[in-house]
Amino acid sequence: MSKIVSFIGEKGGVGKSTNAHATAHGLTMLGIPAAYVMTDNRELLSDEERVYSIIDGRTVPQLEQAVATAKQTEGNGIFVIDGGGNRGAVDSLIASISDVIILPFTADDDSVYVVAREMAQFPSAWALPSNWPTNSKAAVVDAGYIEKLEANYPGRLLAPTPATHAIRDLVLQTFNGSLLPPAQRYCRNLARKVCDVLK
Ligand SMILES: Nc1ncnc2c1ncn2[C@@H]1O[C@H](COP(=O)(O)OP(=O)(O)OP(=O)(O)O)[C@@H](O)[C@H]1O
Ligand SMILES: [Mg+2]
Repeated sequence: MSKIVSFIGEKGGVGKSTNAHATAHGLTMLGIPAAYVMTDNRELLSDEERVYSIIDGRTVPQLEQAVATAKQTEGNGIFVIDGGGNRGAVDSLIASISDVIILPFTADDDSVYVVAREMAQFPSAWALPSNWPTNSKAAVVDAGYIEKLEANYPGRLLAPTPATHAIRDLVLQTFNGSLLPPAQRYCRNLARKVCDVLK
């Protein structure tokens, strides 16, 4: 039976899709079969040049089919579900069928406010500092966001995924299958993190 890892959350633009793709890519790099399940209403991406497959979960019946497939699949594969944002009902459905729930959030008041509420709503979810500034002058402020969440939800924060321009290629319709070394490292590190929390 394959495991299901989901990236969800109401706030748009916090890195759900980016990190879901990066996880699927990184898992494949680690030798773990991975599929990416798309649930938003955008155009379905092609997996022709990708090392992982893309599954259409854009309608609830399709999503349920994807979950059924994951449950039937033998071996140690991982299905990575990308939530669409702004759809509480779909997020609750995805959360209910996930082995690991990850809530990406970015370094700003609004995102931290939303993720704090969702940490309470999904008591087993992990928060992931996403697109995290690496050498920001605001490093003290950014660290404060993590400290504040850690104080309220101890032990439920993952190490930040850094802002890395090269990672953006992964979510493009025109992705050509090759990633620059910083993006490869990003994918591998994130996939390792996901494997750790799956244990
Ligand atoms: N680690 C990162 N480094 C650089 N850019 C990033 C990173 N993570 C996300 N981004 C950029 O931030 C933007 C939003 O990311 P993404 O589309 O993954 O968010 P989302 O949560 O899926 O949004 P939506 O709710 O609209 O689906 C994109 O332009 C993406 O390229
Ligand atoms: Mg998205």
